[in-house]
Amino acid sequence: MTTTDVDAPVRVQAPGGLPLLGHLPDMAKEPLSFFEKLRGLGDIVDWRAGRTPAVFLFRPEDIQELLGGVETRFRHADRPWGFKLLLGDGLINTVGAEWRRKRGLVQPSVRPRQVRGYATVMAECAAEAAGRWQPGDRVDVQQEMAALTQRIAVRTLFGADSAGREAVIGKAMEIAQREIGAELGGMMAMLPPWVPTPGRRRLKKAVAEIDAEVGRLIAESTSGGEERDDLLSRLMAARDENGVALTPKELRDEAVTLYVAGHETTATALTWTWYLLSHHPEVRDRLTRELKSVLGGRLPTFEDYQSLRYVQQVVKESLRIFPVVWVVTAVADTGASIAGHPIEKGTMMWTSPWATHRDPRSFTDPDVFRPERWDSDAEPKAPDGAWFPFGGGPRTCLGLRFALVETVLVLATIAQRFHLDAGPGKTEPKAQFTLQPGGPVVATVRDA
Ligand code: HEM
Repeated sequence: MTTTDVDAPVRVQAPGGLPLLGHLPDMAKEPLSFFEKLRGLGDIVDWRAGRTPAVFLFRPEDIQELLGGVETRFRHADRPWGFKLLLGDGLINTVGAEWRRKRGLVQPSVRPRQVRGYATVMAECAAEAAGRWQPGDRVDVQQEMAALTQRIAVRTLFGADSAGREAVIGKAMEIAQREIGAELGGMMAMLPPWVPTPGRRRLKKAVAEIDAEVGRLIAESTSGGEERDDLLSRLMAARDENGVALTPKELRDEAVTLYVAGHETTATALTWTWYLLSHHPEVRDRLTRELKSVLGGRLPTFEDYQSLRYVQQVVKESLRIFPVVWVVTAVADTGASIAGHPIEKGTMMWTSPWATHRDPRSFTDPDVFRPERWDSDAEPKAPDGAWFPFGGGPRTCLGLRFALVETVLVLATIAQRFHLDAGPGKTEPKAQFTLQPGGPVVATVRDA
């Protein structure tokens, strides 16, 4: 243990660990409780993921130091080959100068001015989804939210006239993500990429379908000639500092990246929020009151986002309790350090929104869902960086604003008409590709 003064972080070595596998078996068994166990040991915990040395960070200031240093003292961790196959050289898979160029080209397509336009699509799609339900219907919330965010993703990415195509792209994307998730969680990940497995064959077939469909949409967008305001058109119009546009292959990779990064994450965040609202009628009542006073029954717009303060707090608290992206990693480069502690090159750096969001040092009653804790005059305040569901530093989620506006507007649109009542049964989170409910969240649709 190394400590220098009272506020200095405590760095410790996790006990145990097998010669070849290190602490991986503990982690594979139950990652979330493994993280909490490590958190109980210290602020900076050395452990081993197989033979790779790993360091887990739990203090908000150290996490900020790490994420702020990605692309300089730390680098973005490589993604498994399945990601590469699906996302190509899209922004998530690139580092250094290539990443900087792409981030610069893609970022303007999700600026507030652009998100204003997408907001209309978000509210309209949510109203259409609610329009198909009747009071008394039983719905699978995750499936409904996935279909809804998929429709929003396809329409905002490719434009309104792509409507109907979302089924084709959506199905292929679903297969691809499922196969990547299955491989990540199983022994197949140990096989070199050229070994064919039935899962990999399904993944390749799905990627070929995505390529064909996205290729068609790009060709249609190029040939139309008319002014469009979807994300793809913005990507096509973007130029880097040398005046160079994205090539068709680069466009394909960024479009698929935005789709994959954006829709399942948001669907899961919405599912958890409906689940939490079901179990907290007092929160739901306050939310309903805000919707009545701000919207009075009309569809929300981008401008309403600012006024829907309580809805924003509900979303923020839901992302604290159930952070959809439950782990954010990086790799140490030469000369890296954290809080003055040297970190050896190649060390895998781990942080977990789950573990830090549930740390009683940062949040009173951390397991309690209480949107009021985000009131501007609430005391005590969580330290800066203690809430980081969207990561941080230069590689912060590119779609952060898009995602927050989408969750708030979808909730506001649907909750004005219906409660999704998931009943008293509880579900535990399961750490998969994203943080999923352990079982289906089935709800009865009731009039609001
Ligand atoms: C609730 C929904 C969302 C959550 C919780 C979320 C979370 C995150 C996190 C934690 C990262 C950083 C990952 C890392 O560094 O390993 C990230 C990156 C990213 N997100 Fe999101 N995201 C959400 C929605 C979206 C949406 C809607 C979009 C697109 C419109 C999007 C696009 C991206 C992209 C492109 C990156 C990579 C950025 C880069 O590497 O420069 N995300 N997201």
